[in-house]
Amino acid sequence: MRTALITGITGQDGSHLADLLLDKGYRVAGIVRRSSVDQSERIGHLLNRIEIHQADLLDESSLVKVIDRVRPHELYNLGAMSFVPASWEQPVLTGEFTALGVTRILDAVRIIDPNIRFYQASSSEMFGRVRQVPQTETTPFYPRSPYGVAKAYAHWITVNYRESYDMHASCGILFNHEGPRRGREFVSRKITDAVARIKLGKQQKLELGNLDARRDWGYAGDYVRAMWLMLQQDTPGDYVIASGRQHTVRELCELAFGHVGLDWQQHVVTNTNLLRPAEVDSLLGDASLARETLGWVPEVSFEQLVSMMVDADLVRVRREIAQA
Ligand code: NAP
Ligand code: GDD
Repeated sequence: MRTALITGITGQDGSHLADLLLDKGYRVAGIVRRSSVDQSERIGHLLNRIEIHQADLLDESSLVKVIDRVRPHELYNLGAMSFVPASWEQPVLTGEFTALGVTRILDAVRIIDPNIRFYQASSSEMFGRVRQVPQTETTPFYPRSPYGVAKAYAHWITVNYRESYDMHASCGILFNHEGPRRGREFVSRKITDAVARIKLGKQQKLELGNLDARRDWGYAGDYVRAMWLMLQQDTPGDYVIASGRQHTVRELCELAFGHVGLDWQQHVVTNTNLLRPAEVDSLLGDASLARETLGWVPEVSFEQLVSMMVDADLVRVRREIAQA
């Protein structure tokens, strides 16, 4: 039986990846940082099938101990401070988690067993003010937030450990991916949650920032499959994972409100306080390498993704109303 260890297992991607690996017959362990409240919202359905270990990306010795205890064949490093606006509020902490945290875990792997296959959650935010359209594995980085800068460091330290210590370490440069488990502060989920609440009479207006931003959005369940495929290859590498289609935030609103028969223009108001100090205006990925080498293709379209998220939020808000 193969064993996988996941940092960030309580997050959106960690929970989807745990689902996938359990289906494939893996023993799955997850790293969770200590909290005084329950963090199992996304993994509640898995708790009797996974192992949970306490450690923190800020503390290398805790990582060494967990890796030694679990002895994984594959380690997926998904833990990070992942909300871009928060990275301007806490730039140093973002660097500690999202940049130096990766050095700590790579070093822990090197010390315990450099044969462990390693996945790093790189991000299309590294492309920032894009130098090429569409973006590929060779497009230069120009990050536009402390988060993007931290991810660029994390990406290169992973490449460096691969080249310095001959480790099987791969980076997935993932474009935005969403789903019903997405955190409610990210724009897709903020919109679909509001659509459900407005439809059911619990909210009137939705405040948003930049409606012109363009993103290449896909479904998280499709994207975690690409992570697993990268670690099954004979040789490690870096891969762009993207849908190859781009939409504006405005189009996302139109589609989500339209799904329940509402006109988005009656409900969405813009608030300049939600604009970012430096914006990533447009992202569009070219996942040809992943398609050709990994055989990866996304299965859920943008339209299906938005419908799935609105429907899930309608079910949840109805349940909350019934329980109130
Ligand atoms: P998410 O839902 O925000 O989950 C982040 C996870 O990281 C949570 O489990 C969180 O734990 C954990 N974490 C944060 N700080 C930690 C620390 N100091 N030590 C240990 N764990 C820590 O993010 P996601 O959407 O699943 O994304 C997964 C990864 O992919 C992240 O690295 C993100 O930056 C990257 N990424 C995401 C996307 C996307 O569109 N979703 C695209 C490209 C790259 P708590 O529950 O304790 O907060
Ligand atoms: N969050 C948010 N809230 N974003 C808004 C809002 C709002 O009210 N209004 C407009 N936007 C715009 C943002 O300015 C941005 O251009 C776009 O919507 C997407 O924002 P997010 O959903 O917060 O995602 P992100 O693109 O900044 O970052 C996500 O994707 C990255 C990959 O490109 C995160 O998941 C990162 O962790 C990930 O690396």
